[in-house]
Amino acid sequence: MPRHPLEPLSAAEVAIAVQVLRDSGKITPTTRFVSVMLKEPLKTEIHGGAKLPRHAAAVLFDNATNSCFETEVNLTAGTVTAYKHIPDVQPTMTIDEQVECEQAVLNCPEFAAALKKQYGITDTKLVMVDIWSAGYYGTAEEKGMRLARPLCFVRSDPTDNGYVRPIEGIRPVVDLNKMKVLRVEEYGQWPLPPQAGNYAADRVPGKRTDIKPLAITQPEGPSFTVDGNKVAWQNWSFVVGFNAREGMTLHNIAYRDKGRDRSILYRASLTEMVVPYGDPTATQVRKNAFDVGEYGMGMCANSLQLGCDCLGHIHYLDAHLCDSRGNPLRIPNAICMHEEDYGILWKHTDRRLPDSPEVRRSRRLVISSVSTVENYEYGFFWYLYQDGNIQFEIKLTGILSLGATRPGEKPPFGTMIAPQLYAPNHQHFFNVRLDFNLDGNANTVQRVDVVADPVDENNPYENAFRAKATTLETEKQARAHLNLETARTWKVTNPRVLNAVGDPVGYRFLPGDNSYPLASPNAWWRKRAGFVNHHVWVTPFAEGEKYAAGDYPNQSTGGDGLLKWTDADRPIADTDVVLWYTFGHTHIPRPEDYPVMPTAYIGFLLKPSGFFDMNPANDVPPSEPKKVEAKSCCH
Ligand code: CO
Repeated sequence: MPRHPLEPLSAAEVAIAVQVLRDSGKITPTTRFVSVMLKEPLKTEIHGGAKLPRHAAAVLFDNATNSCFETEVNLTAGTVTAYKHIPDVQPTMTIDEQVECEQAVLNCPEFAAALKKQYGITDTKLVMVDIWSAGYYGTAEEKGMRLARPLCFVRSDPTDNGYVRPIEGIRPVVDLNKMKVLRVEEYGQWPLPPQAGNYAADRVPGKRTDIKPLAITQPEGPSFTVDGNKVAWQNWSFVVGFNAREGMTLHNIAYRDKGRDRSILYRASLTEMVVPYGDPTATQVRKNAFDVGEYGMGMCANSLQLGCDCLGHIHYLDAHLCDSRGNPLRIPNAICMHEEDYGILWKHTDRRLPDSPEVRRSRRLVISSVSTVENYEYGFFWYLYQDGNIQFEIKLTGILSLGATRPGEKPPFGTMIAPQLYAPNHQHFFNVRLDFNLDGNANTVQRVDVVADPVDENNPYENAFRAKATTLETEKQARAHLNLETARTWKVTNPRVLNAVGDPVGYRFLPGDNSYPLASPNAWWRKRAGFVNHHVWVTPFAEGEKYAAGDYPNQSTGGDGLLKWTDADRPIADTDVVLWYTFGHTHIPRPEDYPVMPTAYIGFLLKPSGFFDMNPANDVPPSEPKKVEAKSCCH
């Protein structure tokens, strides 16, 4: 099978990487494979088009020595080409550690004693222990050990929803290197909330019966073609990537215009996210999860199900990872691709030709994956449209992280959602990295503010406004928040390529919903998440700058990532630029988010803005008309 140099590692390549590292003597019985992923070739190599050797990049962690190593393997030659100790960092927690951490807590006599004392629970079989990152709060142990601060819950029976019964008063602290409970912190007594809160199909009585089948059929198959991980659809072409950390990534996104593939994005990825909780209660105050850098969005990816996660003619891609001991880990159907009807693409009825309305259906290509990070689900959806739009949408669903209250208590920093059960306020901040390549490498970003003209003799009707574009020359100048007063957007342009009206070709960046962080800049989590300080950042492309909170946010002491890099204030005009977007969802929970949350949506849109000479979807043909039906529904 022909392979694109940006295709993720195959199962065989993961196995080779693991074996080469084993044979090199670098792996001890206490070494964990944190991640094994494609080492992407340099941009210059990709653009050269030559057949490239395949490389893997593996992060290793030795529990015995509390040391992290970055390694690279030439898969073609079977050699280790890089091996570097990275001091004082904690890489992503692995799935194996999630499982082992749970067992360590359940087997801990001190935990069992606390459980018995506070709740009268003597059997830990129904107890759930979710690994939660320890973060960093200025203590020596957080700096020198590999830690987790799990949250615990207890089910009523082996399959009910245990998250509605938080064990509020008990907080074990686990040494993940020794895989032993360091201590069990006790904060007082809270009874278990009295009610069950279930959502599973076999537990919800009286399900509605008035839903008729809705079938999506594509009798001639889908309109896209797939060659390995290379996809072509309508005028679009791109490569789908996947890795343990970021999950799904998109590469080499191009649009065929007048017979020519025009590049738009070199790489698009979710680089980090953080979920800070706004509750200062002792049992809740340490909750903040960096789901990409601490848990691994790809590692937590679901195996998607036809007819449930995805509807229609689906093409799935598997993900090939390995567990922390290097055993192959395949996630079947990790990525789903399909087409969706998306209403009207465009329409006009000429009043004088009422029998000939021109209307086109909009079709979009959906490339999606869903990750489960303990209680929460995140769906990641890229949409490509026929008119050149590119949309990214995150779907937030799953189970709220809940706390118990004592009878009669109403917590001020959350919402009561069931008797003695509340959901603390929190925010979800995401960061996406958009490495533009608009008709070539050298691009320039403009911040566009729409401003009213001064009221003077040139503006006698006081109605004038115009778009004022500020060219972003340096990184510090580029740091910015959204601004509703000026309907602020951003525009990526290529000043060297002009469109039909003589302007630089461009793509507009339209932000969607967003939030400001509510915690103080001095809050511990914010020191580690400098990327929330601004919504938009622009950097010159640099090979090592991929993750907004730095390479190792787990237990980081802060100061790494976007904030640090952009302090250099490098020039960014007319160069290979990367636009980083931070967007936050402020979640004040509702009773309706219980027992399972209806999906919340957040994202952004990229829209051609002078990239094409006219509506690129002008050539979409009409659908097979069903005139009689159409008329009857319009009267
Ligand atoms: Co939420």
